[in-house]
Amino acid sequence: MTNLDPTMAPRAPAPESGHNVLAIASGKGGVGKTWFAITLSHALAKRGKRVLLFDGDLGLANIDIQLGLMPRYDLGSVVAGKLTLNQAATTFDTGGFDVIAGRSGSGSLANIPASRLQLVADDLVLMGRDYDHVLIDLGAGVEKAVRQLARAASTLLVVTSDEPTALTDAYAFIKITAIERPDATLKVVVNAANSTREGERTYSTLLKACQGFLRISPPLAGVVRRDTRVRESIRNQIPLLTRYPNSEAALDVEALADRLLAE
Ligand SMILES: Nc1ncnc2c1ncn2[C@@H]1O[C@H](COP(=O)(O)OP(=O)(O)OP(=O)(O)O)[C@@H](O)[C@H]1O
Ligand SMILES: [Mg+2]
Repeated sequence: MTNLDPTMAPRAPAPESGHNVLAIASGKGGVGKTWFAITLSHALAKRGKRVLLFDGDLGLANIDIQLGLMPRYDLGSVVAGKLTLNQAATTFDTGGFDVIAGRSGSGSLANIPASRLQLVADDLVLMGRDYDHVLIDLGAGVEKAVRQLARAASTLLVVTSDEPTALTDAYAFIKITAIERPDATLKVVVNAANSTREGERTYSTLLKACQGFLRISPPLAGVVRRDTRVRESIRNQIPLLTRYPNSEAALDVEALADRLLAE
């Protein structure tokens, strides 16, 4: 039973981060985190994995909208103490994975107290034991609440595009994470690249900054090419891997999922 009131009876201790929990982060907004989190969840589910996708964008939750889901419950009810986190999960049948929707429409969870957010994060790690992978779609930026939720994950995929502002913000996220959590695994995803080659060049720019200033070398999880069918499938609320399974972006995410599983 979820216990969101810190004054209530003691709970079973939760590990701070789940070994199977993966956070999708970025510095800058709009680089494709939510789309990528959905598509990676789908790719992992296609490989027979049990996947839970958690909408951790507390300000502007929108996984349900991209998926065309009308979840009966969302994180708002959990935070309000009306539901357990388990009860708030909805199965997204088309993708074969479970989703915990954030609150969309009915207000934001951006101002949730840190103690409550921590209880949600702890519960997510515990609930994640019933899954092979838990993916957290984080909000943009490096604010405290984003970092706190990210702490539930042992691995962070930092998404960037080739825009200089996206790169500097990705670097800022990597820097703060490397300082706060030297034990966390950081990897880079270059999204919406003009070509695989260009994406690799974008990665090497970021890598040089990480090596030069932070003395770390976060590996490249993969490059996802810019693809007009991404927007089209979002507009139609049909997942890319269903609508255009052979599109470049779909193939790139599938390959990235294979690499993640091969480790
Ligand atoms: N590989 C891609 N090719 C083409 N367009 C893309 C690609 N990835 C994402 N997009 C476009 O970028 C838009 C923003 O994506 P998304 O909402 O996933 O970003 P986000 O990082 O989650 O944004 P926010 O920071 O606001 O949460 C999508 O609507 C989609 O049209
Ligand atoms: Mg998003």
